[in-house]
Amino acid sequence: MRFDGKSVVVTGGALGIGQAVCEILAERGAAVAILDWDEKAGNETCEKIKQSGGNAIFEKVNVADFVTVKNAVEKTRNIFGSINSLVVSAGIQRYGTAVSTDEEQWNEVLDVNLKGAWNAARAVIPFLQEAGSGTIVNVSSVQALASQQNVLAYTVSKHGLVGLTRSMAMDFAKEKIRANCVCPGTVDTPMLKWAASLDPNPQSVYDACNAMHPLGRIAAPREIAEVVAFLAHESSSFVTGAVWTVDGGLLTQIGGVPQVEN
Ligand SMILES: NC(=O)c1ccc[n+]([C@@H]2O[C@H](COP(=O)([O-])OP(=O)(O)OC[C@H]3O[C@@H](n4cnc5c(N)ncnc54)[C@H](O)[C@@H]3O)[C@@H](O)[C@H]2O)c1
Repeated sequence: MRFDGKSVVVTGGALGIGQAVCEILAERGAAVAILDWDEKAGNETCEKIKQSGGNAIFEKVNVADFVTVKNAVEKTRNIFGSINSLVVSAGIQRYGTAVSTDEEQWNEVLDVNLKGAWNAARAVIPFLQEAGSGTIVNVSSVQALASQQNVLAYTVSKHGLVGLTRSMAMDFAKEKIRANCVCPGTVDTPMLKWAASLDPNPQSVYDACNAMHPLGRIAAPREIAEVVAFLAHESSSFVTGAVWTVDGGLLTQIGGVPQVEN
């Protein structure tokens, strides 16, 4: 899967899954625009890609703020000459129930995870239309299809991303713009490290996450990025509006196995 001559905008591209997407796409010939609010990590990822012979730029944005996203996307179009794909990976995790989540936390999570994806899409789609075709891949979560306890706003935002994806897939199919989303299980990223650090025994969080996936382990960021790359590439030309689990079998599993000798 080569991306020569293609340019891609990746939100949340400084770290984690987004960083792996940037690296894979750049290795395969894409020009990559990293949009992220972490200036240090964004510049480091950008430099690493350039030192490996890739083409990348970094733009500091808060995805919740449409004007800065729009400006960064327009700058990307002017530097690269076109935009062919958008990958949305910027996201945050917070904890709370329907009662303990306050309005500030609800707004924070929904503004970044869901409005941020809409902001990126509405800034990029005019340039996909200009290019005559394009792809959008949203990084959602298994929590778009199921839930844990105490993750209300996050789960709502990830379910919302499925609706955003399907809606855009319908609105722009005739213009050869495809929109899909991936729903990862647990992935070894800074977000997981942060979540584990909230537990008195962080290693127990990793152990539990490894054990709960039928494949017996959590994912590496590149294992998610490979699926994102496929959905961004013309190899997936008949796939749109799809919701792809990339979860090591997590959502396929039903517990309560009887101890039967074979
Ligand atoms: N790690 C997991 O186990 C896991 C599982 C399922 C889904 N996801 C989802 O995958 C996506 C990427 O997660 P990750 O684990 O790589 O997270 P991460 O925290 O490791 O990386 C997220 C990136 O997004 C950036 N970001 C966050 N808020 C931003 C904002 N408002 N504006 C601009 N940039 C912002 C961060 O600076 C960071 O570079 C998220 O949407 C997350 O919800 C993660």
